[in-house]
Amino acid sequence: MTKKNTTLGEFIIENQDSFQYTSGELSKLINAIRLAAKVVNHEVNKAGLIDILGAAGDTNIQGEDQQKLDVLANDKFIQTLKNREIVCGIASEEEDDFISINSNDEQHQNKYVVLIDPLDGSSNIDVNVSVGTIFSIYRRITPVGTPVTLEDFLQPGDNQVAAGYIIYGTSTMLVYTTGDGVNGFTLNPAIGTFYLSHPNMKFPETGKIYSVNEGNYTHFPQGVKDYIKYCQKEEDDRPYTSRYIGSLVSDFHRNMIKGGIYMYPKSSMAEEGKLRLLYECNPMAYLAEQANGKASDGKRRIMELQPTELHQRVPFFCGSKKMVEKAEEFMR
Ligand code: AHG
Ligand code: MN
Ligand code: MN
Repeated sequence: MTKKNTTLGEFIIENQDSFQYTSGELSKLINAIRLAAKVVNHEVNKAGLIDILGAAGDTNIQGEDQQKLDVLANDKFIQTLKNREIVCGIASEEEDDFISINSNDEQHQNKYVVLIDPLDGSSNIDVNVSVGTIFSIYRRITPVGTPVTLEDFLQPGDNQVAAGYIIYGTSTMLVYTTGDGVNGFTLNPAIGTFYLSHPNMKFPETGKIYSVNEGNYTHFPQGVKDYIKYCQKEEDDRPYTSRYIGSLVSDFHRNMIKGGIYMYPKSSMAEEGKLRLLYECNPMAYLAEQANGKASDGKRRIMELQPTELHQRVPFFCGSKKMVEKAEEFMR
């Protein structure tokens, strides 16, 4: 039993043997993500200052565009993972194509690919509201020793070996799973160390919070409209409370702790919804299921879906099991 004041570094070592594959490579990779999280945290915390520095104009002295924080987070994450020589490929929301890391033979030996949303909730950056980073890790399908291909990234969520998020909120937390429950670590910024603060996180079976962008209400399918009306109805333990930050990581994190459902349905404006299957929905679905919750596209388990494109979008309903089941009932 892990003690509550365990550091993330200690936790990774202690739990290395419980991974399905125990070469130590996945532990090293989680360690690299831990480091990247601290680097990005440092940047996010300076956001106000960066904005002040950037206010002089849109271009820097070399005539390059001033970096936006999501691009900066993307660069820092990719840089950290590349420098550590720990993955064979990276896909990111901010990159059109996947990145193959194959500059020398030794790096070809790496077995894992990472998919990231480097900065989630980026519309909240300018207004000092919580943002996050989401990551998803798979073992490659193609043989070790060859360059990665698209097929290594287009795997169903059920193949994930680890997934998690970092939330840059009132405190910075790293929350992740390797298939043995979900654990949350809080950063002590004074010493730059993550401590296990939320062991074995679980969604309450049901909850009282629904999170959806209700501005899109008139464009939602009838089943979604009916479910929202159900949430608002004065009956039993309802009406529920509406809470929507507009940052999936933050909305998910709150709902996991308090009990609730997050929804990004398809609409007449966005046929497949908005969220991306590979680096938003699948990692959150893996965390949800590992925490007794549920994630669905309205009909099917998110993690069963066979991806066809890197930046594919999918409708997303995720959270407390009973609430997601109820929403599915309305959509049938
Ligand atoms: P990103 O900042 O990575 O593009 O993701 C934003 C996502 C998600 O975090 C959030 O829940 C949703 O978009 C908000 O979208 P709306 O503004 O359409 O509600
Ligand atoms: Mn996002
Ligand atoms: Mn993003």
